[in-house]
Amino acid sequence: MSSVLTPYPEVGRVVFSVERIAARVRELAQEIEAHYPLEEELLVVGLLKGAFVFSSDLVRALVRRSVAVDFIIAAHYGEGTDSRREVRLLHDADTPIEGRHVLLVEDIVDSGKTLNRIAESLERRSPASLEICALLHKRLATDLRFEPRWVGFDAPSDWLVGYGLDLGERYRHLPFIAVVDPEEIKGQ
Ligand code: IMP
Ligand code: MG
Repeated sequence: MSSVLTPYPEVGRVVFSVERIAARVRELAQEIEAHYPLEEELLVVGLLKGAFVFSSDLVRALVRRSVAVDFIIAAHYGEGTDSRREVRLLHDADTPIEGRHVLLVEDIVDSGKTLNRIAESLERRSPASLEICALLHKRLATDLRFEPRWVGFDAPSDWLVGYGLDLGERYRHLPFIAVVDPEEIKGQ
């Protein structure tokens, strides 16, 4: 089923190829660079674990400006792919947030619960500005209080894996984004 050789027969159609992702990350970085005055330092906050690959590619495309990097670890509790799962903050950004230009980097917006929870906690820390860059957006969220200013791609509603995205901690290392067989999802 897969057009790319991987050890996983359940990994199906590639939705976003390595080349497409790389080109889009470059575009996003250009738009982000153009948005902020060059003399202002940007604090990029990656949302782990899912955004670990995207945020590392994105910050390396922001070479022309000063950038500080920090991470937040959030986790979901509940069944496998169910978006009603609870979002919990396991590790907050250590860096001071007050008065900084903060760019929160998220892998994928599904129900929007994660963004609502995490962006709100950052906003309470009084940043000079708070923007969000999400690689993928399923456009399903009905109660999104923080809309990402930058979105890489609108995504299908299927469960996607690769480029940081997982199913049960598997597939994060795949360099492209693909769908997984729904039968496999049922089993997790
Ligand atoms: P939300 O809170 O429902 O918006 O879900 C966002 C989080 O759920 C993301 O940060 C991902 O970790 C995870 N997620 C949502 N959809 C997918 C998917 O298709 N593949 C992998 N992870 C996903
Ligand atoms: Mg995840």
